[in-house]
Formats: sequence, C-alpha cells, structure tokens
Amino acid sequence: MAKQRTLVLVKPDGVRRGLIGEVISRFEKKGLKLRALKMLWLSEEKAREFYSVHRDKPFYNDLVNFITSGPIVAMVLEGDEAISVVRLMIGSTDGRKAQPGTIRGDFALSIQDNVVHASDSVESFEREFKVVFSEDDIVPDYEKCL
Ligand code: CMP
Repeated sequence: MAKQRTLVLVKPDGVRRGLIGEVISRFEKKGLKLRALKMLWLSEEKAREFYSVHRDKPFYNDLVNFITSGPIVAMVLEGDEAISVVRLMIGSTDGRKAQPGTIRGDFALSIQDNVVHASDSVESFEREFKVVFSEDDIVPDYEKCL
C-alpha cells in the first residue's frame, strides 16, 4: 500500500480546551507518522484560501472568523491510506452526530466548534499544505531511525 500524506488542524476550540496532546496521541498510537508540526495563527487571507472550497456556502464567513479566532496546531501525518484513515478517526463533521470513539464524537457538540479539520482528498491536501507549510517543513523520513 502506498504511503499517503494528510493535513490535520487542531482548531482554536481544541487548542483552548487543551486537546492538542490528545489529538496527536491518537494519531501516533494508530501508527501514523508526524512529518511536520507547527502552531500558528492564520491570517484572514490564509483562512479564506484554506477554506476556499466553501466560499459559496452560507457559513463561509463564520468559518473564517472561527478559524482565525485563536491559534491552531497544524500537522502533516503520513501512513497507508492516511486521508481516509484520519477522516474515519475524526468522525462526522457535526460533533452531535459523530460516532463515539472518534475525536469529534468524544469531544465535540457542535458543527462549527468541532476540534479538528482533516483533508478530504489529495487535491484538498495539496491546497491546504501550501497555505500552512512549505516543503522545508517536512522532516526527512525517520522510519529507519526508530
Ligand atoms: P472542517 O472539516 O474544518 O471543514 C469545513 C468546516 O466548515 C467544517 O469542518 C465545519 O467546522 C464547518 N461547517 C460545515 N458545515 C457547517 C454548517 N452547516 N454550519 C457551520 N459550519 C459548518
């Protein structure tokens, strides 16, 4: 199976609630490898680009306001079928409907304040990665050193 990369954000609500470690821990225990990690505060311009696929949705402005309301933690995770595996682990968008055992199912009660974001496709990953990271931020493959 080919290795794939995905991008995850711990959103401002997750950072405020002290859930950074919990989120990273779940992915580490699953066996996904962290290849990049940073804490940052998105500008409005970057937030608009990050969520550009939602620009025509009625909640777009609220989404941009929310994601720029505080610092976030961004990471690149790598592993077999990482995009679909991570989407399963975070659960449905609406925390009230997300399965218990998923991150949103365990920690969210809202569709907006839903703790995490994860890329939903290779194309989304490529766009999101460029908003938050550069190639220099990717740590070389350290699998052989473990
Ligand atoms: P995320 O996975 O970051 O991708 C887009 C985000 O838009 C989503 O999580 C939710 O936080 C938000 N979102 C999706 N649908 C709605 C909605 N109906 N109302 C408000 N926010 C939404």
